[in-house]
Amino acid sequence: MDQIAIIGGTALHGNIPIGGAKNSAIKLMAAGLLTDEPLILTNMPRLRDTRFLGALLQRLGTRITESDGASGPQTVLHTPEITSAYASYDLVRQMRASFNVLGPLIARTGHAKVSLPGGCAIGARPVDLHLSSLHALGAHIDLHEGYVYAQAPRGLKGARIKFPFSSVGATEHAMLAAVLARGDTELIGAACEPELSDLAACLNAMGAKVSGAGTSTIRITGVTRLTGATHAVIPDRIEMGTYAVAAAMAGGVVRLTNTRPDLIDALLHKLDEAGVGVDRHPDGVTISRNGARLKAVEIETDPYPGFPTDLQAQFMALMTLADGESVVRETIFENRFMHVPELSRLGAEITVSGGEARVCGVDRLEGAQVMATDLRASVSLVIAALAARGETVVNRVYHLDRGFERLEEKLSACGAQVRRIKGSAEPDD
Ligand code: UD1
Repeated sequence: MDQIAIIGGTALHGNIPIGGAKNSAIKLMAAGLLTDEPLILTNMPRLRDTRFLGALLQRLGTRITESDGASGPQTVLHTPEITSAYASYDLVRQMRASFNVLGPLIARTGHAKVSLPGGCAIGARPVDLHLSSLHALGAHIDLHEGYVYAQAPRGLKGARIKFPFSSVGATEHAMLAAVLARGDTELIGAACEPELSDLAACLNAMGAKVSGAGTSTIRITGVTRLTGATHAVIPDRIEMGTYAVAAAMAGGVVRLTNTRPDLIDALLHKLDEAGVGVDRHPDGVTISRNGARLKAVEIETDPYPGFPTDLQAQFMALMTLADGESVVRETIFENRFMHVPELSRLGAEITVSGGEARVCGVDRLEGAQVMATDLRASVSLVIAALAARGETVVNRVYHLDRGFERLEEKLSACGAQVRRIKGSAEPDD
C-alpha cells in the first residue's frame, strides 16, 4: 500500500488546475447505459473510482475509450446493447455509487439484479429512497440474499415522488430511471447539488426532457429513446475547496483555475470570516494568507448551497491551528468524525459529542504516522501535515486516490514537500 510523506512548514505559491467532478462523472458514466449511441464525456477526472466504475460498465456491455488530447481528458462510453444486467456484491461493495447502475439497467432492459451496497465507513447509508423511487416508477422490487431483483417488463411509468429529506444519490437515481419512463415524473424535495444540474444537462443533451434541476422540484417528461451527446463534466467543487483550505493552512498565494468559485460560496465565506484572503475570478479563485493566525469560526454541514459535508474534515484540520474554539456540526452523515483521532495524533485538541466537534486551536501541530480512514478524512490529514512541524506519513492513501487526481503533483508544483512512497498491491475495499 502506498503512503504519502509530507514535511510541513512550507508556504504554497502557484496555480492548481481543478479537474472534473468525481461525484458527477460517475453518474454521467451510468447515464451512458441509457443509449445505444456513444456518450462523449470531456473534462473527465482520472481516478480510482472512475476506473472502477468503468470496469463494471464494461461487464454490462459498455465499450470505453479514453484519450487525453488537446481538448483534455475525454472518455467515450458506448453501449450498443446491455449484455448483462447483473452487478455483483464484489463490484458494488467496492464503490457505493455503482448501485446507481440499477435504474438505467431497468430503464433500458426492463430487469436487473444489483447487489445492495451495504454500510460504509461514514455510516449506515441506506438506499431505501433509491428503492422506493424505482418502485414508484413501476419497478417490481424484491430483495433476496443481499441483492435487488428488479423487474419492469412493460417499462417504467412516470410518477410523483416526494423525498422526505434531501438525498443526492436517490434524486440522481430517480432522474436516471425516469428519463425513459412513459409520461411525466415530478421529483419533490429533490437535492439541489450542482452535480444534479450537471446530470440533467447531460441527459437533456442526449434528448431527455428534464427541467428544474438545481431546485427542489424537478420535472421530467419521459422519451422513448436517448441519443449520444458530448458533455463536459462540471468542475470538482470538493477538490477546489480542498486546495483552498490547503492554501489557507500552509499560507502563501495559490490560484485555483479551470473552475467556478460560485460552487463553493459557503466555504469561501467561512474562509473569509476566518481571515483568509479570497479573490474570485471568472475561472477560479486566489487564496492567500500571510503569517497571521486565523480566527476560529463555526461551521454546520448542510445540503447545497450549505457547507458541504465533503469539506468538513478539511475545514476542521484548518481550525486546529486557529485562535480560539471552533464548533463543527455534522448534520448529513453519522460517524463522519473518523479523522478526529488521527488529527489528535498530530497534536490537535478536539472533543466530539454526538454530531458536534469542538476544536480548540493549538499553537502548533507535529508530524506523526497517521491512517487514512475514508476519502475526505484522508485529505484532511494531508492538510494538517502541510502546517505540522516535521514529517507526517499518511498510510492507506488508496482512499485518497479514489477522489484526488495527482494530489502530490499538484501540491508539489506549489512548493509543498510531498512525496509518494510506493508500497505493495492495494486492498480492494
Ligand atoms: C453523495 C456524494 C457524497 C456526499 C453526499 C452528500 C456521490 C458519489 N457521493 O452521497 O460525496 O457526501 O452526496 O452531499 O455523489 N439516505 C437515506 N436513504 C437513502 C439515501 C440516503 O437515508 O436511500 C441518507 C444518507 O444516509 C445520508 C443522507 O441521506 O444521511 C444524505 O445522503 P445522500 O445525499 O444520498 O448522499 P450520497 O448520494 O450517498
